[in-house]
Amino acid sequence: MDEIIRFDGVSFFYGKSETPALKNINMTIGRGEFVAVLGHNGSGKSTLGKLMNCVLTPTEGKVYTAGMDTSDEANVYEIRRRAGMIFQNPDNQLVATVVEDDVAFAPENLGLPREEIRRRVDESLKAVGMYDYRDHTPANLSGGQKQRVAIAGVLAMEPECLIMDEATSMLDPVGRREVTAIAHRLNEERGMTVICITHHMSEAVSADRVIVLKSGEILLDGTPKEVFAQRERIEESGLIPPQPSQLANALRDEGFDIPAGVLTAEECIDAVKALLKG
Ligand SMILES: Nc1ncnc2c1ncn2[C@@H]1O[C@H](COP(=O)(O)OP(=O)(O)OP(=O)(O)O)[C@@H](O)[C@H]1O
Ligand SMILES: [Mg+2]
Repeated sequence: MDEIIRFDGVSFFYGKSETPALKNINMTIGRGEFVAVLGHNGSGKSTLGKLMNCVLTPTEGKVYTAGMDTSDEANVYEIRRRAGMIFQNPDNQLVATVVEDDVAFAPENLGLPREEIRRRVDESLKAVGMYDYRDHTPANLSGGQKQRVAIAGVLAMEPECLIMDEATSMLDPVGRREVTAIAHRLNEERGMTVICITHHMSEAVSADRVIVLKSGEILLDGTPKEVFAQRERIEESGLIPPQPSQLANALRDEGFDIPAGVLTAEECIDAVKALLKG
């Protein structure tokens, strides 16, 4: 598998802290994967994301993004261009007073020709469904719309990887669905690698791969089915399984013959139907 991110024996300590925020992380993320990162508060999710695009550099070990060592100062600019990051608060990410100026910010800094900037801004705004708002003021947009503009700003750098750190956690359900749908579309249509740090189990269920962190270490790493089937470890990590899994688990606890690995409402309905027929 062609890899885009590699962690080799990575530990990270904040300041003079004696407990590592991450300890001895070894993992790779392949190009085109959609990876959800889960874990209780303080488990190290944001630290993991920030190490991927040089917001932080490892205390021990190495992180390689698109084959480049993140600890090498000379790579920072190119790594940030290839791996864009979206954060939790939509209000902290938009700087300009007009939507399209905000999206143009990165390509302008790349020193691209005017026509190329125009093309990228238009394409990026269309990709997130915000083209019609190009001359609006970000302040007047909804949270979900602001996050979509922030994503357009990242897309304008033509990155290979999108890292979202709880990018939907301040949004209403509609905004959350829209932003999640865009991430999936970019992944499916452009083969963009997506790393989605989240507290929402529904977002994890639709990922290709789920990584669960606990106290700075990788507790689980696998497909959503594999990960959520590990009931005890999920509980140990302080996570609440997706609702359909909870229902299936509760029925199994009552002695009903429900298969393991139920994740979606559809799977849960099918399992209950099979039970009723039997
Ligand atoms: N700037 C900082 N200075 C000192 N310690 C920090 C700093 N940022 C995070 N930490 C500590 O590092 C550990 C990991 O934090 P991190 O922010 O990566 O966790 P997280 O999983 O993203 O949590 P949350 O779900 O609350 O966003 C925690 O113990 C946290 O208190
Ligand atoms: Mg965090």
